[in-house]
Amino acid sequence: KEVRVFAPATVANVAVGFDILGFAIDGPGDEVVARLAEGSGVRITSISGDGGKLPLKAEKNTAGFAAIRLLEQLGKSGLGVELEIHKKMPFGSGLGSSAASAAAGVMAINALLDMPVPKMESLHCAVLGEQIADGAYHADNVAPSLLGGIIFIRANEGLDVHSLPIPDELHAAVVYPHVSILTKDARDVLSPTTTLPQCIQQTGNLGGLVVGLYESDYELIGRSLQDVIIEPQRAQLIPGFSTVKSAALEAGALGCSISGAGPSVFALCKGREVAQTAGAAMQQAFLTQDIPCDLFVSPI
Ligand code: HSE
Repeated sequence: KEVRVFAPATVANVAVGFDILGFAIDGPGDEVVARLAEGSGVRITSISGDGGKLPLKAEKNTAGFAAIRLLEQLGKSGLGVELEIHKKMPFGSGLGSSAASAAAGVMAINALLDMPVPKMESLHCAVLGEQIADGAYHADNVAPSLLGGIIFIRANEGLDVHSLPIPDELHAAVVYPHVSILTKDARDVLSPTTTLPQCIQQTGNLGGLVVGLYESDYELIGRSLQDVIIEPQRAQLIPGFSTVKSAALEAGALGCSISGAGPSVFALCKGREVAQTAGAAMQQAFLTQDIPCDLFVSPI
């Protein structure tokens, strides 16, 4: 038996929900082919699209690790499984590459065994898979990659995870500039403390975004997409970030911020046409600094 699954790229943080908000995008992602094999344990037979950078050893690979943990949870560690990983998304981009692999790892095992667990019950294994890549246990990329849509995580510990409603016309423009930022480095620049006024503004904006999504209030969504804590500290890692953001807002985006740990930048927009225009403006802003980039436009 052989199965083929796909887990999408994701935008984590969504400006105001550091480590607790994320959404999936349509287009880039990871494909995993899994088959039952002789012997026992998970083996990764090949990886494409990673430029040879990812480990083939299953315990060291986010997809392999997640698959092993789910087999353990199901009491089926004795099963022999082969995985082929096809990366169909940029690597080290702030689009949740390692999370998509981890999500695809559990999806592949679940599909191979005829869906023994609801996706939510496999989430912990997928988050453990991603944790081996960046050392932190956070589901803001893995949960939307596995479950789809826009996901709010009240607490990463215990995975108190909730799907939020998506207004019909909400689209994202995501631009990936070809510069490299390691998530670990982007986490290391962050100050461990915030001020009370920052907390008040950020929680106000997070609440505003959630209410805006529930009420399809695009203006409220736009007003709320202002990260006063993380973005000011990470913007310096992305060349020309403020120019790119201004270009998106001038082109009619509701809001614009860093995708995950960067370097990708996303804008939320009302309608595909505005997203296309805002995305092209962001892309142009990177190109004028001689930074090549890719644009993805997607409904949320
Ligand atoms: N929330 C994470 C961060 C996402 O911004 O560091 C990247 O893994």
